[in-house]
Amino acid sequence: MQRMRFTVSVLCPLNPLPAMCAMGLSTVIRLRDKRNDPLEIRGCSETALLSLLEMYKSFSPKPASQGLPPLDPEACRRWVRKLLKYAENFLAWREGRVIGHASIMPDQEKKDGEFLIFVDRGHRNRGVGRALTDVALRRARELGLTSIWLTVEIYNFRAIHLYKNCKFQTCSRDDCERTMVYTL
Ligand SMILES: CC(C)(COP(=O)(O)OP(=O)(O)OC[C@H]1O[C@@H](n2cnc3c(N)ncnc32)[C@H](O)[C@@H]1OP(=O)(O)O)[C@@H](O)C(=O)NCCC(=O)NCCS
Repeated sequence: MQRMRFTVSVLCPLNPLPAMCAMGLSTVIRLRDKRNDPLEIRGCSETALLSLLEMYKSFSPKPASQGLPPLDPEACRRWVRKLLKYAENFLAWREGRVIGHASIMPDQEKKDGEFLIFVDRGHRNRGVGRALTDVALRRARELGLTSIWLTVEIYNFRAIHLYKNCKFQTCSRDDCERTMVYTL
């Protein structure tokens, strides 16, 4: 099996691993994907709106899963704005372009968070989704959340495979989708 090379280096502190555990907006995690191509994962604020919209503009298929990303450009813009405003977001960058986006929408009362992830079609199956998910889960732990949940369509085999790899467990399912939970 081909493994992701996790040669992590972080811009700010001297020791990369503690730095990864303190994923702030200025943290940059540099790694290589399964094809050995370089990749950066960064936290993200509302200033990344245009770069993120650029990825979703050319995203294919649209919608890809559960109506997301929205096909209508204005609806897509509203959706991305909402995520940037209320959620914790992580972007995968390559050659100055956003190629992947993961997001956790925290619920501080319940101490949980909803997870979603999208990787640009041309960059799938190379470990980008795995890297984004790992970083997002670390951040969720830092935020003091106790679990992360998601829903996924039952025929979205690639996503389900990724979530199982990351130790999400199925807690319910119906004819259309399953709900999976990661306990932190
Ligand atoms: C789901 C998605 C985020 C995964 O991103 P990715 O970068 O391709 O993920 P990774 O490469 O890290 O992992 C994909 C895994 O699925 C496996 N896979 C690929 N196609 C598969 C299939 N048809 N059935 C089962 N597993 C499959 C890959 O081999 C890989 O597993 P491995 O690391 O054990 O080899 C991406 O495909 C995507 O954006 N899809 C469209 C949007 C979407 O469905 N989002 C999820 C909403 S719930």
